[in-house]
Amino acid sequence: MVSVPTIQFRPVELPASGTLVVFAADGMTLGESARRADEASDGLITAAAEAQGFKGKRFATLTIPLPRGLSARALVVVGLGDVAKLGEADWAKLGGTVAGALPSGPDTDVTVFAEGPEGALTAEQAADIALGIVLRSYTFDIYKKKPSDEPDPAPRAVTLCVASTAAVEARWQAVEAIAAGTMAARDLVNEPANVLGPVEFAARAAALADLGVEITVMEPAELEELDMKMLLGVAQGSERPARVVLMQWKGGAEGAAPVALVGKGVVFDTGGISIKPAGGMEDMKGDMGGAAAVVGTMTAIAKRKAKANVIGIIGLVENMPDGKAQRPGDIVRSKSGQTVEIINTDAEGRLVLGDLLTYTIDRFSPAVTIDLATLTGAIIVALGHFHAGLYATEDDTAAKLLAAGTATGDQVWRMPLSKDYDGLIDSKVADMKNTGGRSAGSITAAQFLKRYVGETNWVHIDLAGTAMGGPTTEISRTFGSGWGVRLLERYIADNFEG
Ligand code: BES
Ligand code: ZN
Ligand code: MN
Repeated sequence: MVSVPTIQFRPVELPASGTLVVFAADGMTLGESARRADEASDGLITAAAEAQGFKGKRFATLTIPLPRGLSARALVVVGLGDVAKLGEADWAKLGGTVAGALPSGPDTDVTVFAEGPEGALTAEQAADIALGIVLRSYTFDIYKKKPSDEPDPAPRAVTLCVASTAAVEARWQAVEAIAAGTMAARDLVNEPANVLGPVEFAARAAALADLGVEITVMEPAELEELDMKMLLGVAQGSERPARVVLMQWKGGAEGAAPVALVGKGVVFDTGGISIKPAGGMEDMKGDMGGAAAVVGTMTAIAKRKAKANVIGIIGLVENMPDGKAQRPGDIVRSKSGQTVEIINTDAEGRLVLGDLLTYTIDRFSPAVTIDLATLTGAIIVALGHFHAGLYATEDDTAAKLLAAGTATGDQVWRMPLSKDYDGLIDSKVADMKNTGGRSAGSITAAQFLKRYVGETNWVHIDLAGTAMGGPTTEISRTFGSGWGVRLLERYIADNFEG
């Protein structure tokens, strides 16, 4: 974790010092305060824009050091593009662009005029700019020695000048919780597997008790009692024992069916006996990205005291080759009673999730059960790094999650479920096999999971391409992206809180 800046809000006024940030729309259209800064500097902003060919294009930036007539050390102009075409998810990206454009140096105080050409931004827009600034400033460098002569690149304090501080501060309370949840998920994905085994991950999740989340940590003996042999089979090649952590947030009406979030938490995935090739295997420290998104969402939900009942459950195991490891050809009995022929020990995530889904649906009868997993390389082939794959048994639930994805920028794309694909995982010797052959690899993985949810309202999100290892964006610069926290938080806020 990090030195992310502290955020504060105050009414619009020119700052005495530090870096000043203003926005400009297409054609260098300026808002009121940017125009005043331009006048106070004798037209420096428009002249510098002219000289640099800066026209206010979205996410373009212009930095003017030591602007004459202003006491600021630097003035940064950030482009909004065509204001009519700005989507909700763009405001955080603009905040990230602000943070990315700040000059490094000893002076780390920043003032942002949260104002467009049409006047003050809304409370939501201003809070999302702050969100983007915080998320962009996140780094993961706890294992690097800091050269003592290098200044901290992140700003220490950012002040947003807004129309109504009260309205923005109210919104920021919730958005700050979302930022904290996203960074918690990033931390978990970024930690190496030697530091973060199942036991250590469980301890980090258990710390949510401080926020009022009820925590139950289950150890192998109890998981055995609960018949989670399919989950335990994945862990049996590792020196480090499995853990399942149940997190319960009871912010909604008593007895109201909860939203259930189920996460794949493979702290490291070598493939087991069906061992993976060496190249890039280090990335498999992030194979707990689903579980990280669940913990991050529970963090956000609890921090902002959501008025909803939400449970999180994560299966924490390590998939290793060993004399005790599970073999291809083994047949395991799942908690559901269905048997599985193991074809490939590298298709382990579905084995972990299958037992968790049975447990969650049997015990809690959730209103909706959403599992999140870095489940397949095939989803990266299909969608790359810009959408996660979404599978849903109910169109209405899918539509709501797609909408939450568009609004937050954690985008999902719906993939098909059908009887045709389901047939690909039939086995000659057991009720099913754990892989479906070369084609449609993400879909057959989803069909496997579907065999553990009965006729319930269920969603599977394959975030292998979005949770980790993707390209850097305006708001995400480290291996772990924290993807999914904003999506789930918004889906819960919009559909289960009132
Ligand atoms: N954890 C991997 C999937 C993965 C791949 C996540 C790349 C993130 C980036 C999963 O356990 C796996 O190994 N899946 C196999 C399934 C195959 C054996 C049917 C895969 O995708 O190759
Ligand atoms: Zn895996
Ligand atoms: Mn695997």
